[in-house]
Amino acid sequence: MIWSRHGGNAGLLEAQARPEGGDEVMKDSLHKPVMEEEVLRFIQPKAGMIVVDATVGLGGHALSIAQGLAPSGRLIAIDKDEESLLAAKERLEGAGVRCDFVREDFRHLDRVLDRCGIEAADAFVFDLGISSYQLDNPVRGFSIRAEGPLDMRMDRSSFISAYDLLNNLTEEEIASILWKFGQERFSRRIANGIVRARQGTSISSTKELADIVVKALPYKFRFQRIHPATRTFQALRIAVNRELDSLDEALKKAALYLNKGGRICVISFHSLEDKIVKENFRELSRTERFRPVFKKIMRPTPEEICRNPRSRSAKMRVIERVK
Ligand SMILES: C[S@@+](CC[C@H](N)C(=O)[O-])C[C@H]1O[C@@H](n2cnc3c(N)ncnc32)[C@H](O)[C@@H]1O
Repeated sequence: MIWSRHGGNAGLLEAQARPEGGDEVMKDSLHKPVMEEEVLRFIQPKAGMIVVDATVGLGGHALSIAQGLAPSGRLIAIDKDEESLLAAKERLEGAGVRCDFVREDFRHLDRVLDRCGIEAADAFVFDLGISSYQLDNPVRGFSIRAEGPLDMRMDRSSFISAYDLLNNLTEEEIASILWKFGQERFSRRIANGIVRARQGTSISSTKELADIVVKALPYKFRFQRIHPATRTFQALRIAVNRELDSLDEALKKAALYLNKGGRICVISFHSLEDKIVKENFRELSRTERFRPVFKKIMRPTPEEICRNPRSRSAKMRVIERVK
């Protein structure tokens, strides 16, 4: 679905409900864009450019990018989460530049650009994972600490939720997800705990799952600075949203649709994502049409981490098409 500020669908926003959980959740979690200054420095949005924000979220990065693009640039704002996209649309109202809001998985970048009538873009921005709004809203089921349904779908129209995986997969399949996507060393014990807990019933809340994970661990691992179910939640979220396959596909497509002199900027939050970015950029650099804009990775400044602790695990990589 595409909504263009210049298109004929302006009424759609009003017709949609506000994000479930209400204005409070929204206000409290207006996502602080991570490494915003760095994104602007490397993308350098200017009038006339076409920029694709493949993970627009609540529109934090997009707003600053759009201000740089005004008046004659164009922003393509993609998110698979309809509620976030609506919030971004509201936030970008009056940004003074043409914006197209597209609800789609970024793995279909090619389809999105074709539908927008765009042959190539000057920059792609990927700020991966979920936003504070999604994390802090208990009904979305991403939070370990708040009681909520086991959902974890970024796109709530998709079919498979965390509930479906946990209550239907075999013990081996669950252990494999926890190991592959969470690098959870106790994957087998946790999978066994899950399968035992669902006998004759089903596991339906985030709190239930967090408790099952804690109980499955050896006693001395139950009390840690980071919640012991963090890896399990990460693994399920990645599996539900097929995040790693999407990223790999999207980066390959972004490279195909990048103008000469254009850049792809990716902010990742865990090693599995960063590995995919690193490998894709390495492959591209071998072609001599691309070069990394800086060696290795860039991280948020200590000041940013202090201001926004959620930025602490961010890693940025940027590549440029030179030929
Ligand atoms: C960290 S947030 C982005 C925040 C945004 N940069 C801002 O400043 O507000 C990541 C967003 O990407 C979206 N997302 C994650 N994977 C996606 C995918 N494969 N396709 C489309 N959107 C995705 C999530 O729904 C979420 O809204």
